[in-house]
Amino acid sequence: MRQVNLGMIGGGTVGSGVYHALRLNGQLLASRIGVPIRIRKIAVKAFDEPRPYSIPRSLMTLDWQRVVHDPEVDIVTELVGGTTIARTMVLTALGLGKPVITANKALLSAHGEELFAAAKKNRTNLYYEASVCGGIPIIKSLREGFVGNRITHLYGIVNGTCNYILTRMKLEGADFDAVLKDAQAQGYAEAEPSLDVDGYDAQHKIGILASLAHGFWVKPGRIYVEGIRAITRLDMQYAGQLGYTIKLLGIIKAQPDGTGGRAPRIQVSVYPTLVPNSHVLASVNHVFNAVFVRGDVVGDTLFYGRGAGKDATASAVLSDLADAALDLTAGTKNRVPAFVPHARGGTVVPIRDVVSQYFVRLNVVDRPGTLARISRVFGDAQIGISSVIQPEGRQGGSVPLIMMLHEAPNGAVTRALRRIQKLPVVRGRPVMIRVENFQ
Ligand code: HSE
Repeated sequence: MRQVNLGMIGGGTVGSGVYHALRLNGQLLASRIGVPIRIRKIAVKAFDEPRPYSIPRSLMTLDWQRVVHDPEVDIVTELVGGTTIARTMVLTALGLGKPVITANKALLSAHGEELFAAAKKNRTNLYYEASVCGGIPIIKSLREGFVGNRITHLYGIVNGTCNYILTRMKLEGADFDAVLKDAQAQGYAEAEPSLDVDGYDAQHKIGILASLAHGFWVKPGRIYVEGIRAITRLDMQYAGQLGYTIKLLGIIKAQPDGTGGRAPRIQVSVYPTLVPNSHVLASVNHVFNAVFVRGDVVGDTLFYGRGAGKDATASAVLSDLADAALDLTAGTKNRVPAFVPHARGGTVVPIRDVVSQYFVRLNVVDRPGTLARISRVFGDAQIGISSVIQPEGRQGGSVPLIMMLHEAPNGAVTRALRRIQKLPVVRGRPVMIRVENFQ
């Protein structure tokens, strides 16, 4: 039985989590796959950087090159994050023909094409289960479990911080700012929260899933993104009255393309969405993640779990480690390729052409003719209104007006709302949140 030696770059939260998990379950893993795995070296930022699990000093080095170039190191993990030095680290290891395991969604999302091409050129593999949804085995499921399916729909709650904030806003009737502040104090949100609350972390993850599902690389710039900062307690409350919960959803939907899937046209977007309370994703609360996948052969499937944290992420790294070790020892590097571009000319549909239903909240003057004027703008744009809520107001005072709209292209609704905003009976900016019916 050949032993496989692991060289790790990164000994912080995730890196020390992997060290701990291997100590805990390394023997079990070896007995399952028939290959013992030994950590040979761990490159760290500083010997005494804060880490949840301690690492023996004898394993640590400050020089990542020593890890990558060590001839005894068979597999390299990149667990440092960022897109500059991490890219060099991954490319260096791949250039030496060593399989790399990464948890780095930002790096993959921006440079996936280049990295997978480098892996192929050097006849090795890049493994990335930990990059999307931590402990949920969604990469393996799409790559292997659903290899015989066209993925027609994928809906993901892929950012734990946003889900935590939205859950508390709903349960407590609280505003975004207050919950964010408390989430930061409790360590559920970063001091600089933009990556999470403005949707960019979800954008990286959804881009990786879209690329894997549809066979062409979907870079972040092609993905429409809206975060959750603009969601208010009023939106939560009225959505609740209408039977919906607001979630930040990553959405990937195949559009009819007429080429039998050879040149897929897909919607890839991240935005706050009204989810019917009867749908299972409405019940995914706090920091949990979930991914709902519909394949043309398998039908509907659901994955649920922790999307972040040292242990959940370590579980994903160990899964990749087992695959990498087996692929190395059995000489099956291309058993199931990590990412194969298989679709030519795939395109991402611009958000203006994406069709959905809508929740609209306006602040209007309660006077005769208000509703008629607003309805006329929607009517002229061929946009149907499916329901209206207006709490009892005071003649001449301002009052919320909530409308649910039938399916229409985003562009048409945005144009209509621009006209509505200019009406003298409308105060402030209209709020528009898309509604998903999961059809
Ligand atoms: N910050 C992310 C989240 C985890 O809140 O889900 C890492 O991607």
